[in-house]
Amino acid sequence: MDRIIRASLSEGSLVADFFCGSGTTLAVAEKLKRKWIGCDLSKFEIHLTRKRLLDIPGCRPFQILNLGRYQKQKLLENGNGGRRYIEFILKLYNASPLQGFAYIHGKKGDRLVHIGPIDSFVTLKEITEAAREAINVSARGIDVLGWDFEMGLYDLLGDLAKEYGMDIRLKQIPHEVLEVKSEQGLGRLEELKFFDLNCLDVGLEVKGREVTVSLKKFVIANPEYIPEEVRITIKNFKAYIDYWAVDFDYKGDFFHNMRQEYRTKKNPELRTSITYQYDNPGQYTILVKVVDILGNDTNKLLTLRV
Ligand SMILES: C[S@@+](CC[C@H](N)C(=O)[O-])C[C@H]1O[C@@H](n2cnc3c(N)ncnc32)[C@H](O)[C@@H]1O
Repeated sequence: MDRIIRASLSEGSLVADFFCGSGTTLAVAEKLKRKWIGCDLSKFEIHLTRKRLLDIPGCRPFQILNLGRYQKQKLLENGNGGRRYIEFILKLYNASPLQGFAYIHGKKGDRLVHIGPIDSFVTLKEITEAAREAINVSARGIDVLGWDFEMGLYDLLGDLAKEYGMDIRLKQIPHEVLEVKSEQGLGRLEELKFFDLNCLDVGLEVKGREVTVSLKKFVIANPEYIPEEVRITIKNFKAYIDYWAVDFDYKGDFFHNMRQEYRTKKNPELRTSITYQYDNPGQYTILVKVVDILGNDTNKLLTLRV
């Protein structure tokens, strides 16, 4: 790649690899000071590429963008509006539809199912409404399936569950759902895993304008998806984390990867604290994002004043 890029492009020109895999082309382009664009449909490959690029000394800033929104729009169009979309997700989750409710969409075994919107995140308000409706149905709890979840939602669930005497679980609709194009594609159903959201506990230390964020606890919700031979070697929560990053000034829209720590083959030990110095005093929101060894994201929102 080095020879091909040097021979065909001058510094500053653009290299594109639309099937970038582990990012060899992009890494070489970056080292040779060419600009680059990479695409891949696998979140693991994107993640690997990200770590590989970050490992290059002096790597220039880059962005990771998601085309999921476009695919979701297609799913909605093919799905004949909201109703078909809900039926489709229920089928993938192996649940049966339940009529007569506004927020409860289905039932799986002794649990009710609520499905979050395709183009937005699941809110506390809609889970509360679902729990209200659920009081009149005999069920053990509610599984809330979502593409994304309101920030801080996980931490509020305990109170809600107590108030309604119900076990409430948040489950991630897997991105692979977008690749199931038709009813025939439902044959891949067995492979789809709806992960529960993980539990993340973060510490915050403020000294003047210097702030240290530390990972205190990370509990993976579905250890059963990790092969037994790997699971028994895990002695510390750090081993479940592959990468974590912090946006020290989260504005509620995009996550800005301002600082990050990650493991590599050469350097398998994960650092669990990140320190940052603010230029100006004020009130800030911090978003911590952890990517676990199964490729799932877990977020934690914190606010502070410096
Ligand atoms: C052999 S790897 C590419 C290696 C890479 N070009 C390099 O030079 O190191 C092929 C990649 O294509 C990705 N891929 C396959 N079909 C795709 C699609 N329709 N859109 C985007 N990526 C795709 C796969 O996930 C895989 O990571």
